[in-house]
Amino acid sequence: MKKLAISNQKGGVGKTTIAVHIALQAYKMGHKVLFIDIDTQANSSLFFEHYLENNQEQMGNAASLPTVSLFEENSDLSAFDDQRFGLLYSTNDLASVLGNPDIDIAVWANNLQKLDDKFDICVIDTPPTLAISQIAAMVVADYVLSPIELSTYSVQGAINLITTMNNIKDDYNPNLLFLGLLPSRVNKNNNRQLSILAELKNEYNHLLYPNDLMLLERQAFADTSALNLPVWEIQEHAARKVAAKSRPVFTDIVNRMIGDKK
Ligand SMILES: Nc1ncnc2c1ncn2[C@@H]1O[C@H](COP(=O)(O)OP(=O)(O)OP(=O)(O)O)[C@@H](O)[C@H]1O
Ligand SMILES: [Mg+2]
Repeated sequence: MKKLAISNQKGGVGKTTIAVHIALQAYKMGHKVLFIDIDTQANSSLFFEHYLENNQEQMGNAASLPTVSLFEENSDLSAFDDQRFGLLYSTNDLASVLGNPDIDIAVWANNLQKLDDKFDICVIDTPPTLAISQIAAMVVADYVLSPIELSTYSVQGAINLITTMNNIKDDYNPNLLFLGLLPSRVNKNNNRQLSILAELKNEYNHLLYPNDLMLLERQAFADTSALNLPVWEIQEHAARKVAAKSRPVFTDIVNRMIGDKK
């Protein structure tokens, strides 16, 4: 199971939107997908609770457990046996578990290890903080993807995150790979954004997601959380155009994870 952490300590940059689209695209491509919401805001949990409820036929073998169960020793994870989609959803008690100074990250890592041969891809949606949840995600991840808005703060947040990631890599997880900074909510008519993108290419080209891939600011993406649908399932002309442009980005991310035989 290849694990991807979607991380940026800046809020509202599109982490959750991107995480759910990657997971559903991977599922469409025939992969068995585990989705973990480790953000107590529970945005992606809500999305998937509705999505799974409304698409029972299509999502056939799917099971859900609370994310806190991964922080408990001897957790029964057998609900995920023989499933094609697994959801670990955020509940109220996740905050106290993550806030407990005696939290044992090894328990979480061991529990995930038990799911290793049950799914092909695991997507972890993280909160906009550099707290223990972010670190827990990076300790177990094979990859980190960092969505950024083209604003000074967002870029700075991502650069700080890369420092944290490199520390985790040195201390705990030498195989961690950075997939890149993925520009998100991009408005190509905004000169400020364009100049930040140009600066990024000048100074941090090696950190940007390859091939100039990015996601544009589009109403269809904003609608996904209200409709609980990925953009390609929104029956609307504008959404279809957004889907046609953005889906290759999600496919590329999935293929980078699957193609890299580690
Ligand atoms: N490409 C986009 N175009 C337009 N709206 C978007 C786009 N991506 C996300 N949004 C909207 O922006 C808001 C924030 O997005 P999202 O929740 O994905 O960000 P986030 O980084 O997960 O936020 P948080 O840090 O709070 O978890 C949401 O209302 C979402 O619908
Ligand atoms: Mg989010």
